[in-house]
Amino acid sequence: MSNIGSYEKRVKNFNWSISEKELGYKEGDDLNIGWYCSDRICQMGKANKPALIWEGLGGKKNSYTFNDVRLATNTISLFLKKIGVKNEDRVCLFLDKIPELYLGFIGILKIGAIAQPLFSAFGDESLHVRLENAETTVIITQRKHVAKVRKIKDKIPNLKHVIIVDHDGKKPLREGEMIFSLKEETPVEELEIFPTKAESPSVLHYTSGTTGQPKGVKHVHYSLIGQYLTAKWVLDLKDNDIYWCTADPGWVTGTSYGIIGPWSLGVTQCVLDTGFSAEAWYKFIEKQKVTVWYSAPTAIRSLMKAGDEVIKKHDLSSLRHLASVGEPLNSEAVIWSKKVFGKHFLDTYWQTETGAIMLTNFPGMKVKPGSMGKPFPGITAEVLDPKSFEPVEEPGKIGLIAFKPGWPSMMRTYWNNEDTYKAKFANDWYLSGDRASIDKEGYYWFVGRDDDVINTGGHLVSPFEVESALLEHEAVAESAVVAKPDEVNMEVVKAFVVIKPGFEPSEELELKIMNFIRKKLSPLAMPQETEYVDSLPKTRSGKIMRRLLHAKEWGEEIGDTSTLEDEE
Ligand code: WTA
Repeated sequence: MSNIGSYEKRVKNFNWSISEKELGYKEGDDLNIGWYCSDRICQMGKANKPALIWEGLGGKKNSYTFNDVRLATNTISLFLKKIGVKNEDRVCLFLDKIPELYLGFIGILKIGAIAQPLFSAFGDESLHVRLENAETTVIITQRKHVAKVRKIKDKIPNLKHVIIVDHDGKKPLREGEMIFSLKEETPVEELEIFPTKAESPSVLHYTSGTTGQPKGVKHVHYSLIGQYLTAKWVLDLKDNDIYWCTADPGWVTGTSYGIIGPWSLGVTQCVLDTGFSAEAWYKFIEKQKVTVWYSAPTAIRSLMKAGDEVIKKHDLSSLRHLASVGEPLNSEAVIWSKKVFGKHFLDTYWQTETGAIMLTNFPGMKVKPGSMGKPFPGITAEVLDPKSFEPVEEPGKIGLIAFKPGWPSMMRTYWNNEDTYKAKFANDWYLSGDRASIDKEGYYWFVGRDDDVINTGGHLVSPFEVESALLEHEAVAESAVVAKPDEVNMEVVKAFVVIKPGFEPSEELELKIMNFIRKKLSPLAMPQETEYVDSLPKTRSGKIMRRLLHAKEWGEEIGDTSTLEDEE
């Protein structure tokens, strides 16, 4: 029997107080996600249960019980407190998927500070704009990423401390840098947890938009109410599960369901920090006896590509429930997973902004491969007409995915960017920025994004950010960046470039440009193809018509360009 039981019954009788009651929370109480994910689980008698089973490169291993998590996070909290971190200060986690990332996240929350996790493959420019916007005061990182921090530190006056978690003390430290090693510290038994309330800020995740710099999505501790119940009812997490979320906590899936969801339920989770390989992944599942697996379409398509033979070499019979998020999950992948794992990958849809799963296929519900499923109980979802912002009545008609605000894990604002936040609403609906249709049975079908953001392998890349970085290259006069179709990643970054006089369009220059972007932004943002052009299509007012270039890449009808000319 699944945790959700009957979807229809749950929808009928739904109230978020179900989650509050299970968590023992009443309105007005203190509410701290850090405490819920560690101390409370210990108090419930699970102190010695494994919380984190970790495997890294070169066969490195580590595991932590819930009591270990409680102590380690207390230790991190106290250290931060001692160096002057106050509640609501932004503390950035710039780490690979090492245990300190998971423990640091909880440690930051316990003292009421705001955790700002950033993808460790980000280059110095990506890091810079996000730390600057958040006015981050502390960054926790590893030796291998320190060079990137050093490059930008002087440009961020608020950044007081750079904490390095794996420094051997041999190479000299620069001003503001300090070493923190969990192994060297005496575990802190008692910690005064900061009395955060429901609306106290908890996490700041940066996401990419079409225009402007990345936006800091502000979440609050009350998000737990949504993350706990969705993890329970959608991921179907149970006490004896071994759960594996393949997402990196630099992105929202890795925190909402790679830390908060499982740990608030007292569920054991495992982490593999070795990058992708089909063989390594199946080995990991077999060895850890993973029961619930939450992954992403690009990974699933890569597994498909690796073939079925490698699957037969492993005993994957422990798997009982599979789910996916981040980008469209094509029906072939859903059908394939049933064939090879005996279970469908169930598609779930949500965003950094929504904080928790919004539309989903539930365990036990009829699977329609290619559909995102139905709204989570308590979520009022619709597909709206893009002009009137009224619900589209006809089944199958395409419109904008929208949600009635008021669910617990909804973002509270974009950091220092209230205007952009406000622009996300119309007619009392939160506009997701995605397009879909709803069929007669109430299933949602994803159509595409309503903006130019590129979703490459489940990671959002802003064309604006890539274009701005391209302009900093000495050879680039003008640029336009769009998504190009890709078999595995669905979309990859393609750049159209007008080069400056004196530079030759060559393969060598293309490689140089690629490398420039990879270092500055990230490997995800790196153009997989650069096309040299003499000029870029523009509106009369000089705005680049990305949509025209996009249509060409996807072999779509360009349509009436005169209307595009007038668009702003
Ligand atoms: C896309 C990730 C199709 C969508 C949790 C959304 C999806 C954006 C799906 C959010 C899905 C997410 N099917 N598209 N099941 N899930 N998306 O903020 O465009 O990194 O708006 O959050 O990914 O990406 P974000």
